[in-house]
Amino acid sequence: MRVTFPPEVEWVAETKPELLFPRETIDRRVKELAAQISRDYEGREPLLLGILKGSFVFMADLIRGLSIPCRVDFVRVASYGGDTQSSGEVRITGDLELPLTGRDVLIVEDIVDTGLTLSRLLGVLRERQPASVRVCAFLDKSARRRVPFTADYVGFAIPDRFVVGYGLDFNENYRFLPDVCMLKDIA
Ligand code: PRP
Repeated sequence: MRVTFPPEVEWVAETKPELLFPRETIDRRVKELAAQISRDYEGREPLLLGILKGSFVFMADLIRGLSIPCRVDFVRVASYGGDTQSSGEVRITGDLELPLTGRDVLIVEDIVDTGLTLSRLLGVLRERQPASVRVCAFLDKSARRRVPFTADYVGFAIPDRFVVGYGLDFNENYRFLPDVCMLKDIA
């Protein structure tokens, strides 16, 4: 299935991204996740901690589907640079502003790939003594794990293909696409 773009975005159309999850499917699934999280955290006010940049679209939709109050913060973690392969390096380049002590923290991530980012970040965050830490990942590419890691909430399990859109990028392009698409010839 082909994706339709505004005709002026020729460079996107030329790369022929292959549709994986259309926006309607994403919308349904994110609402289901939000309902599940609202049930699980009923009576509490979790701190949703987004990992920039990829999670910003997912975070925006997820919090608007919640039926409980929440706080929101972001942390900037860089692991890939401009490449498609994980470097294995995880750097916190912009720290969160809100204290985690005693709070129920729900990390919001766009994709779990090798698992390096989240497994290392969890170690750092637990030192700040939150009441609990869970992970909500929009996409899970389990075939590429280098360290064991299981998210508590997962939007979609995906094949070992390079995906873009809905916040996910390739060299900072494609984040604006409302659908999730696969790019050809990129490992
Ligand atoms: C991506 C993604 C995750 C991480 C997952 O971030 O957003 O944070 O890689 O990969 P891993 O499981 O192999 O560690 P990226 O560094 O591309 O930054 P971005 O979110 O700004 O696009």
